[in-house]
Amino acid sequence: MSDPAVFRAVMIGDVFGAPGMRAVEMVLPRLREQHSPNIVVVNAENAAAGSGTTPKQAKALFEAGADVLTGGNHTLRRTEYVATLEEDPRVLRPANLVARGAGSGSVVVDARGGFRVGVLNLIGSVFIEAAQSPFAVVDDLIDRMRRETHLVIVDMHAEATSEKRAIAHHLDGRATVVFGTHTHVPTADERILAGGTAYISDIGMTGPHDSIIGVKAEPVLRRFLTGLPARFEPATGDVRVQGIVVDAGADGRATRIERFDIPVDVSVN
Ligand SMILES: [Fe+2]
Ligand SMILES: [Fe+2]
Repeated sequence: MSDPAVFRAVMIGDVFGAPGMRAVEMVLPRLREQHSPNIVVVNAENAAAGSGTTPKQAKALFEAGADVLTGGNHTLRRTEYVATLEEDPRVLRPANLVARGAGSGSVVVDARGGFRVGVLNLIGSVFIEAAQSPFAVVDDLIDRMRRETHLVIVDMHAEATSEKRAIAHHLDGRATVVFGTHTHVPTADERILAGGTAYISDIGMTGPHDSIIGVKAEPVLRRFLTGLPARFEPATGDVRVQGIVVDAGADGRATRIERFDIPVDVSVN
């Protein structure tokens, strides 16, 4: 039996471009009020016009109510973000993204309500670039965090559903939640695994959904049709904030995982 739910985390899917930033700034304070989460984790890899994050955006996301920022394959696109990764332990890049480089892939933070919470950011190695397999690094990183807390949140930034599910099963009972990011398409497979780890293959995207994963459809389609290079631009229509809420006992076992998908009119206000 798990402890009664005493801990709550909110995770927000890849924030894409200016519309995604605006949507988070508008919705996150309300989400914080509604759910009273102990921690909010936001994937910020696409905040800067779909590619990377700026230091100013990191600051704005913290001001809007994020507690930890995770990243992905786009996180090292902007050199000005290196200082942010180096200086702020709450800003992560996938632990196995590069062999050596700026920043860290994990952190243990003091969350609201007196909880210590570990957050780990990994990147997959199937159909996406990773310096090392996530399976090669994950056990050491998890062990290190679990010496400090049983509340462990894992952002598995990966393309292949199979690899995300495999990491979740590998960590079942050792992580409170393993959630997928990167595809920008939310999946309907949220569940709690036998050992108490909440899991979903992808929590979706916070940004314009009238698009091809955030980008204006026309140039993407043209490139598929003609094979010629095209300039990709962030789309603007059907902006949504997508993510999950996870509840757990103090023992770190999840008791609930629920998706949210909130349409936002970013043109108002
Ligand atoms: Fe992304
Ligand atoms: Fe990505």
